[in-house]
Amino acid sequence: MAMITKRGTLPRTPHTEFYAKAGVFSLEEIHGSYGFNGAYSRKIHLRSYPTEQSKPPKKSNLSLIPLPTGENILQPYHILTKDMPYEGDVISGRRPLLFGLNTIISVSKPSESMQEKIFFRNGEKHELYFVHEGEGILKTEYGNLKVKKNHYLIIPKGTTYSIELSSKDAFFLIIESRFPIIFPPHYMNKEGQATLMAPIVETEIEVPELAEPIDQKGDFEINVKHNDGNLSTLTLSHHPFDVVGWEGSLYPFAFDINNHHCLVREIHTAPPTRQTFQSGDGNTYGFSICSFITQIEGWHPKDIAAPYAHYNVDSDEVMFFASEKYGAREGVITEASITFHPGSLPHSPHGDSAKRSTKMRGKLNEQLAVMLDTFFESLTMTEIGYKYRDKEYALSWHKAASAVKS
Ligand SMILES: [Fe+2]
Repeated sequence: MAMITKRGTLPRTPHTEFYAKAGVFSLEEIHGSYGFNGAYSRKIHLRSYPTEQSKPPKKSNLSLIPLPTGENILQPYHILTKDMPYEGDVISGRRPLLFGLNTIISVSKPSESMQEKIFFRNGEKHELYFVHEGEGILKTEYGNLKVKKNHYLIIPKGTTYSIELSSKDAFFLIIESRFPIIFPPHYMNKEGQATLMAPIVETEIEVPELAEPIDQKGDFEINVKHNDGNLSTLTLSHHPFDVVGWEGSLYPFAFDINNHHCLVREIHTAPPTRQTFQSGDGNTYGFSICSFITQIEGWHPKDIAAPYAHYNVDSDEVMFFASEKYGAREGVITEASITFHPGSLPHSPHGDSAKRSTKMRGKLNEQLAVMLDTFFESLTMTEIGYKYRDKEYALSWHKAASAVKS
């Protein structure tokens, strides 16, 4: 995250004697990345190190290991996530649907808040939540962020958190990456600001509000995800949110998808114009996240608003449709559908949607979707993703084309 931020109280000079509370020696922690050379934050704890475990670590009852389907026939997929049940909390209800070497795409449809003394920490991957439904609070040691519909929540690897729902249930698309999830570096100038040409403004992020430190003794469980989906339970002797201040550039933040300010041109523009986040080097590993929000279609007198048939051989494409309105897929996808188009498989607008899209020339379209394109990483369908697939999807183009011709 480019924006260096400070919350609460800290010593003016790092790693110097400090008393946030009279007579209590404060304790410092660095949450670092990339071998202590990448983004980091400095946290000051009121009185306890985050290393004080009161019980032996144990294997958690939960597992987030993605289980691959045995099916391995190349095909486009359409996963009907609307048919998946609401269950558990945001962690116990997390269902991995697609995964690769560095990336996992899951859906969580929780119907309850996480228990008060139980927390989660993803120790192996950075996380992006897209909030499709529901409200609540993301509570972290860096402070609280509101959970709001159509917001992205970026949670760095190693952040301890819980999610409390204020709505009856919620629906999250969750994308995990081995690498930090950041605004694309090509949007940034050398001073670290988004350039005046970029479709995002880094100051439009929401930064956690640090609450009073919780100075509480007891047993507090942290379920830590590690080694490709295993979970171990660590029991701390004190509340993990005992931070009195922090500063740095590694912290969770929120970003409203509608704060992606479109770049459009006279004719149709390829997806990178919608890029919002990047993970990895933006070239050979990691992924790109694009936001498809309402935008004006090309105004060239002969513009075709719908895309071309396309495949990007070095990317597997995953698309989450927050709205069932999406010109090229209308009548095929439903709200919250996920499509998965492997890199070596071209896909195109359905039926006569390309021809119909000429009527949209120069007009505002209606759409809301999140797209992930991997870089040189193949994704595998899990058993759960396969269970909720639309069995007709591979033939849906043929069906739509036949309907137009008849
Ligand atoms: Fe595509």
